[in-house]
Amino acid sequence: MIQHWDLFLAPYKQAIDEMKVKLKGMRSQFTMQSEHSPIEFVTGRVKPIASILDKAARKGFSLEKLEEEMQDIAGVRMMCQFVDDIYRVVELLRIRNDFEIVEERDYISTKKSSGYRSYHVVIRYPVQTIDGEKKILVEIQIRTLAMNFWATIEHSLNYKYSGQFPKDIQERLVRAAEAAYLLDAEMSQIRGEIQEAQAIFSRKKENKDTD
Ligand code: GTP
Ligand code: MG
Repeated sequence: MIQHWDLFLAPYKQAIDEMKVKLKGMRSQFTMQSEHSPIEFVTGRVKPIASILDKAARKGFSLEKLEEEMQDIAGVRMMCQFVDDIYRVVELLRIRNDFEIVEERDYISTKKSSGYRSYHVVIRYPVQTIDGEKKILVEIQIRTLAMNFWATIEHSLNYKYSGQFPKDIQERLVRAAEAAYLLDAEMSQIRGEIQEAQAIFSRKKENKDTD
């Protein structure tokens, strides 16, 4: 059974490894051109087997049809400094030819009732295996650092309370989401200033590296 899972998950792992290289490559291209990168950093994971089984049971997915029904067995996250960067990243994904976009979900213009905000893009990504090509669904979550901070904290609390938050904590989380939203808005207002400072800093660093 475990070996079966290893075989099943191998192409997902490969898809994530390849996507991480590609998306990090986009970041290096911006840096190389001394341009602000809309991508701050990229992470990825294969969903743990226990979570796959949990979710399949919760949503009534049959294990035979997991590949089509569960879109986030392979997950990649792209973190951005500014909200506008998220939409630039989505544009960059749309013009690529190495995968197909299956679905987009914008939880930024309409946040979830929990307070969650992110932009989700589900892609069908072809991996080359010794048995030929296999197309894998990958869920890409694109969010600001503030959105990521909130989602990470909320996720751990969710885990602790199994999704049943005490009322005061739930209210605090909604307020914290509002604060994260305001933080993003404030940062966008002084975006020009921030980027000038970052450009100076990276030039200084370059000089030091070549000294
Ligand atoms: P899931 O069953 O969670 O996959 O919901 P879905 O199929 O309707 O997809 P959705 O786009 O809503 O959520 C997919 C993923 O987004 C989740 O697996 C989480 O990683 C993230 N997400 C969605 N809602 C929340 C939330 O309220 N809090 C946090 N921390 N993450 C969320
Ligand atoms: Mg989902």
